[in-house]
Amino acid sequence: MVETLHLHSDDIGIATAAELLGAGGLVAFPTETVYGLGADATNDRAVARIFEAKGRPQFNPLIVHLADPAAVAEFAVLEGSARRLAETFWPGALTLVLPLRPASAVSPLVSAGNQSIAVRVPADPVARRLLQTFGGPVAAPSANPSGRVSPTRAAHVLAGLDGLIEAVIDGGPCSVGVESTIVAIQADGAEPPRVLRPGGIAVETIEAALGRPLHNAAAADASAPLAPGMLESHYAPEAPVRLNATQAEADEVLLGFGVAPGAALNLSESGDLIEAAANLFHDLRRIDVRAQGRRIAVSPIPEYGLGRAINDRLRRAAAPRS
Ligand code: TXA
Ligand code: MG
Repeated sequence: MVETLHLHSDDIGIATAAELLGAGGLVAFPTETVYGLGADATNDRAVARIFEAKGRPQFNPLIVHLADPAAVAEFAVLEGSARRLAETFWPGALTLVLPLRPASAVSPLVSAGNQSIAVRVPADPVARRLLQTFGGPVAAPSANPSGRVSPTRAAHVLAGLDGLIEAVIDGGPCSVGVESTIVAIQADGAEPPRVLRPGGIAVETIEAALGRPLHNAAAADASAPLAPGMLESHYAPEAPVRLNATQAEADEVLLGFGVAPGAALNLSESGDLIEAAANLFHDLRRIDVRAQGRRIAVSPIPEYGLGRAINDRLRRAAAPRS
């Protein structure tokens, strides 16, 4: 066990966090999507400690976070559609999976042995100051134990990782509230970019910027009929979850969206998907505490805009537990 420092997002907090990263420490920090668990991406031991702290069973590849898009060229190929997307959406809630440059300084554990690497330039001002002060690439998954709900507050991070990481920077609640949209770009650019995960930037918005449809690998998988076993259980609260509930049964608490009489909590009473995304993980945690042995029923969420990211996370929360 280590003593986990609770840092403010002031100059002293940022300087302390950057120093800890430089010494191979694990530092959780706010981004506009969710809190990330950061480590120096060039330090094999530090990156390995991320997997240990999260209790991740296998080496899932990690996203590299940078302050400056120009630094991407040191370890990945950013050309064509990828460059266009980076110019339009960075800094922001878009992750690009790009061809990895051989012999880069980034630890091979970050890409988990793949020939591709995921990169993001976050917009959150605290994340940006940390990345600028540290001055190098920071590998960061969401700062939650593997399989659990992602953190959108410093308190959520501590609830899962206190004593396992060197520090968390408290930057308040995350403004977007769901993870970044992940788009993979093929090395030769022959195939259209593929959406690997719907997230904080709507797929429709990305398609509009590109002027052509994306291959929606994520949606294709998620809509596979009657195959809930295909969905990896993830984002799981303690209580079982039932989706598309128009009302709560006797043994349920309702997480509402829009008009939802009797809801214990409502993601957005006005039916605003952006507000619902920002509330999603916080409300899942809060309603889990209130459930007390009951199930969580969730109102239907429309499958467009940020609704795709919300439904993706909810389907995983409701998937059979392994
Ligand atoms: O908003 C976010 O993306 C947050 C913040 C902290 O930036 N990060 C995040 O990381 O959600 P994580 O590790 O929880 O999810 C990253 C996803 C994983 O499902 C991983 O498999 C995928 O990105 N990924 C990473 N590198 C990849 C690669 N080279 N090829 C395909 N998928 C990759
Ligand atoms: Mg995650």
